[in-house]
Amino acid sequence: MAVFLVYLALLSFLSRCSAQWCYQSQYSCDDACKDPSRWVAQFPSCGGLRQSPINIVTSKVRVDSALPPLDFMGHNSRINVTAENLGHSARFVLPQSVRLGGGALPGQYRALQFHLHWGVNGRPGSEHTVDGERFPMELHIVHIKEPYGSLAEAERDMAGLAVLAFLFEETTEDHPHLNDLIAALGRVQNNGSTTVIQDFQLCDILPPARELRSYYRYVGSMTTPGCEQVVAWTVFHKTLPVSNRQLVAVAQQCRFWTGQPMTDIFRPVQPLDGRVVYRSKAGAVLPDFIAVLPCALSLLAMTFT
Ligand SMILES: *[C@@H]1O[C@H](CO)[C@@H](O)[C@H](O)[C@H]1NC(C)=O
Ligand SMILES: [Zn+2]
Repeated sequence: MAVFLVYLALLSFLSRCSAQWCYQSQYSCDDACKDPSRWVAQFPSCGGLRQSPINIVTSKVRVDSALPPLDFMGHNSRINVTAENLGHSARFVLPQSVRLGGGALPGQYRALQFHLHWGVNGRPGSEHTVDGERFPMELHIVHIKEPYGSLAEAERDMAGLAVLAFLFEETTEDHPHLNDLIAALGRVQNNGSTTVIQDFQLCDILPPARELRSYYRYVGSMTTPGCEQVVAWTVFHKTLPVSNRQLVAVAQQCRFWTGQPMTDIFRPVQPLDGRVVYRSKAGAVLPDFIAVLPCALSLLAMTFT
């Protein structure tokens, strides 16, 4: 009986492993789980012609003066954000009040979640690369087009999702608000655990809108299975700061579903397959006080309530 139970447990472990997709970094499961080169065996879209991430070759980028700034809505609201360990990554769930418009997107979008892609031991872990350079980390904010209610519904639309991508650049000083996210990741160490960050503001993490007028735009996919080819990608030129200490810490908080440290969670870059990457023509820079107004106003609102 005991032998049978062990056999059953082993079988269930193996099947769980082989049915799951994984990143290259999950060595002990390497023979069983599907690493990025084998995602396509189970998820056909991962072998499609509009895959992400990509390497952005700046000399081949086409400037498109018809790409206006994006409209960010709800970025200065104080929200409660639930962090979840999904076994292969960790995400921060956003309320529907966070929305996106403008940017020549074919409609309005509402936010679902944001998440980070990182490396290990302070080594680069971004998904997109620029002229072959990998950045320390990458933040994705995933939005779904209105009025769709689910990814499955949005899949019928080539731009059913809009993902905003922010690349990080290493700085000597800490990013002042990143520590709250790192602490939350520390509270969701294992697959399935959740925690809440209260009074969170996206504008604390992101640069002011005036610094986000310059961006790359291309059509691509989700960078995790099923690699749905329904994403209007926006990769901002402006980087976010992260210190080496924070970069090392962020990759030390979570574990994969297999129990190994959650490190090097990025998909290798995919072929362009004839796609063109466009770049917006950055508009005039507004005075600082206008750009910082949203966060400042909400602070004032806090003071007087
Ligand atoms: C966040 O959660 C706290 C505690 O549950 C609650 O009092 C507060 O109203 C929530 N804030 C929002 C914006 O939902
Ligand atoms: Zn992502």
